[in-house]
Amino acid sequence: MTEELKTKLEKLDTEYSQKIAACADSAALQDLQVAVLGRKGALTELLKNLKDMPLEDKKIFGPLSNDLKNKLTAAFEARQSALETAQINAELSKTDMDLTLPARTFDKGRRHPLSVAQKRMTDILARMGFVWADGPFIEDEEHNFDLLNIPKNHPARDVQDTFFIKNTQKQDFVLRTHTSGVQVRTMKKQNPPIRIIAPGRVYRSDSIDATHSPVFHQIEGLYVDKNISLADLKRDLTVFMQGLFGKGAQVRFRPSFFPFTEPSVEVDVSCVFCAGQNAACGVCKGTGWKEMLGAGIVHPNVLRNCGIDPEEYSGYAFGMGMERLAMFSLNIKDIRAFYENDARVLEQF
Ligand code: DAH
Repeated sequence: MTEELKTKLEKLDTEYSQKIAACADSAALQDLQVAVLGRKGALTELLKNLKDMPLEDKKIFGPLSNDLKNKLTAAFEARQSALETAQINAELSKTDMDLTLPARTFDKGRRHPLSVAQKRMTDILARMGFVWADGPFIEDEEHNFDLLNIPKNHPARDVQDTFFIKNTQKQDFVLRTHTSGVQVRTMKKQNPPIRIIAPGRVYRSDSIDATHSPVFHQIEGLYVDKNISLADLKRDLTVFMQGLFGKGAQVRFRPSFFPFTEPSVEVDVSCVFCAGQNAACGVCKGTGWKEMLGAGIVHPNVLRNCGIDPEEYSGYAFGMGMERLAMFSLNIKDIRAFYENDARVLEQF
């Protein structure tokens, strides 16, 4: 009995091993699998004898038939995957696709260094309570000059020589020479307390060189409330500069003149590169200081022009060149690096 079954098992083994190896099509392979391992398959039928066998025979026949089942199952799987691979290869050979070619890479973009600088500055100022304000790039003379206490024939207009746009109507327009016009626009429509920053593009008819560009960027700041003094300005600009350049940064205020502030100051920051220790420092020319921005206490005329009573309120204002600060902190020597958009230069920052 056992011998007979053993022979049957061996025959099944030889027969199906050959058939599997010869089978060239997945559907036929499936039929073959059903024929031997399916519910009514040849091996399954043989196994039905198991339950009626004496224990001795079970011990031999059981493992043998199990081994065959596993062997055939593995053979079916291997054949199936070989057939699939062959099919894929056959399809690929009909195309020109070269799957051995390395994948195409692509360049990852990044923020422009000026945008990075602007974000750093505005983030610090936002944490100090300043909110973002905006104004038009094409500004009327009134907001760019007159209301800022720069009347028609004032020499300060020459310093900010700009691009005029002739208007046949009431007044000429200019490409704004500074962001200070946003101060005026904000004060005209909002009552104190006012605490705004106005970052953005400005224009001057300067020729291009390492430190000048006809288009550049400023950040204007304005804080108007009761009892605002130069002490508030000094505190806030010191906090700002230390946020930007580190706790060790020193800030120096020098008297200056702007028509829209009185008193006016110019603000220097200690050289982050040499801290005044290197007489040959290329950044601060050995002075230990770098001029960063203009500021001051808002002129009473300007407050009055905007409908704010200078007896009740006072304010400070500042205006800084974004490129100037960015060049200083990144040690960029030429402003043109920002605009020429040479990726090899920009990707260094
Ligand atoms: N608007 C000035 C400029 O473009 C910068 C400036 C100086 C702005 C003093 C201010 C200020 O608000 O108070 O040169």
